[in-house]
Amino acid sequence: MGAEREFAIARRMDKIDASGIRKVFDLAATMKDPINLSIGLPDFDTPDPIKEAAIAAIRAGQNRYTQTQGTAELRAAIAALLQKEFGWTDDRPILVTSGVSGALMLAFEVLVDRGDEVIILDPYFVMYSHLVNLADGVPVRVDTYPDFRPDPGKIEAAITPRTKLIVINSPCNPTGAVYTRAELEAIAAIARRHGLLVISDEIYDFFCYDDPFVSMAGIYEHTLLMRGFSKSYAMTGWRMGWVTGPRNVIEKMTMLQQYSFVCAPSMVQAAGLVALQTDMTAEVAAYRRKRDMVFEALGPAFGLVKPGGAFYAFVPAPPGTTATDFVTKAIANNVLVIPGNVFSEKDTHFRLSYATTDAKLAEGLEILKRLA
Ligand SMILES: Cc1ncc(COP(=O)(O)O)c(C=O)c1O
Repeated sequence: MGAEREFAIARRMDKIDASGIRKVFDLAATMKDPINLSIGLPDFDTPDPIKEAAIAAIRAGQNRYTQTQGTAELRAAIAALLQKEFGWTDDRPILVTSGVSGALMLAFEVLVDRGDEVIILDPYFVMYSHLVNLADGVPVRVDTYPDFRPDPGKIEAAITPRTKLIVINSPCNPTGAVYTRAELEAIAAIARRHGLLVISDEIYDFFCYDDPFVSMAGIYEHTLLMRGFSKSYAMTGWRMGWVTGPRNVIEKMTMLQQYSFVCAPSMVQAAGLVALQTDMTAEVAAYRRKRDMVFEALGPAFGLVKPGGAFYAFVPAPPGTTATDFVTKAIANNVLVIPGNVFSEKDTHFRLSYATTDAKLAEGLEILKRLA
């Protein structure tokens, strides 16, 4: 092995700042057997029939590239789902992607020019701002504190001639907020007035605990709808999602996928057909109970707004402390949570993921309550 040598990294990488989360993980590395309430993936495993389908596909030789846009069978199954949910019978273009992450990457590269502004609702899934920056765009953060509801007035005030897109994510990571039909209609009215495309990241659509899920795609015709398999079926490592929307956008995303990801994994696409037939209501019910446990324990103690979906709570740090200070204290007490400034301009809240066993969750909640 030669001596270590540092090579010049492209300047665009300067725009990706991962220092916040790195500090947390450095601290976490010092913990022995932590109560880990930081993880953004289900604690249940992939259902057996889905695993068996992937194994059978591999054995049957489905190990080659598929069509870039995804196999005809899987796209037909997704089209059937769209017909059932939205009544769509036209042949809308569907692109099967390498996770919703892949769809987001392709969408921002295809849609965002240098200086174009993208509205994201703060707090937000971190990847949005990084990918917009990478595309030379400008993430414009619209505050949703303290209750994490989207404020149409604030969204409209953030629109400029450079605005290209509005990104929404309901149920939301990191807040657990689920948008109502009225809220989505208000956002759609703004987008329509200004001729904007809306990206609707619906990766947590299964995880709605109080009211049925409402999709932006059923409300606003110019929606780039993204859904995934990662959270719904505990397939985070399998890397598959899908996107549908305006034809010319999907065509360009497909072209770019051809020269980047090429296709979603072939055996995962085969297993995806089985996943779409799999009933996950028991898993979702278990997560509803965990959500209730969190709200019962931390609601009054911390002034937590009740989250309606996903598997996160975005909890205010006790008065007089920053989230980072509180998280440092929590880590010193063996509970791993993430400070809000990783997801936000503000450092006033922490994200707790309740995707863990009831026993670990109860233990962690007890410690957090004591620290408050
Ligand atoms: C809001 C949101 N969108 C997208 C993703 C990425 O999902 P995927 O595994 O499908 O790439 C995540 C994962 O945490 C997420 O929380």
